Amino acid sequence: MTANATKVRRTARWAAPVLATVAVAALGTYVAEAQQARSNNLMTPGVQRAVAATGLAPVESFSSIQNTAERSIALFLEASKVVEHPRCINCHPVTRRPTQGDDMHAHVPPITSEAATHAAGVPCGSCHGQSNRPTGSAGIQSIPGAPHWGLAPQSMGWQTLTSGQICEQLKDPKRNGNRSLEQIRVHMSEDHLVAWAWHPGQGRTPAPGTQEQFGSLIAAWIATGAHCPK
Ligand code: HEC
Ligand code: HEC
Repeated sequence: MTANATKVRRTARWAAPVLATVAVAALGTYVAEAQQARSNNLMTPGVQRAVAATGLAPVESFSSIQNTAERSIALFLEASKVVEHPRCINCHPVTRRPTQGDDMHAHVPPITSEAATHAAGVPCGSCHGQSNRPTGSAGIQSIPGAPHWGLAPQSMGWQTLTSGQICEQLKDPKRNGNRSLEQIRVHMSEDHLVAWAWHPGQGRTPAPGTQEQFGSLIAAWIATGAHCPK
């Protein structure tokens, strides 16, 4: 081994932990929470795709796909950029614990809720009002709010699932609140908690595209047989 290689290796031995400590100290809980989300497997490929999305492709752009089932799947995957976006999926956990932010860190303060709209006796509504409330602070710029703010039921939990698993679950009346595909389309197009995702308040990235574009993708997915990715 050359003297240089030995030096590099010695430096790496002390530099790695020191740099890591500095980075964690500098970025504080943000880094720790992002790592926690990754280690919980919450940042699935589908969620990462949703976070990276800058808009939604229009339904027409899929007409070149000749095979109907393939077109249906492509339409669903485009709509998944909304469904799996943190603005939606933070409220659709499988663990009964809502998450926050684009990195899906655990809700601060810690909350586990068996009931939809309150946790350990504290109603969600005691902090989450009827509309977003600006705080005037640089850290948390606003507290998100909408009428009936609450956690999606257990059977509608999407976190850690693949896009294909979410798709199958959405179609299953036993798990989707006994809804027909048409009722799912209406919920996606008109529900006010769904709508909140495009108006999430200061300091939060909205879901990609518009609710209208999203509704059109869902309608086209259903019209092509509502096929699911594997
Ligand atoms: C003690 C106050 C408090 C209670 C009670 C509370 N929350 Fe929150 N919640 C907050 C605050 C503050 C934020 C904003 C945090 C931020 O942006 O960093 C937040 C953010 C969230 C978010 C993240 C939104 C996003 O996409 O980033 C979700 C989801 C959420 N809360 C769900 C719930 C649910 C469901 C309940 C009831 C079971 C609940 N919260 C109860 C204070 C509370
Ligand atoms: C503040 C929390 C919250 C947010 C944000 C939220 N949801 Fe929900 N979602 C719920 C609750 C609560 C239910 C159950 C309501 C019911 O069954 O009537 C639900 C149910 C649903 C359902 C019914 C069927 C099923 O299988 O899940 C769909 C579809 C849905 N949400 C889609 C979305 C989409 C898409 C977004 C983002 C654009 C979103 N939600 C954002 C709380 C939320």
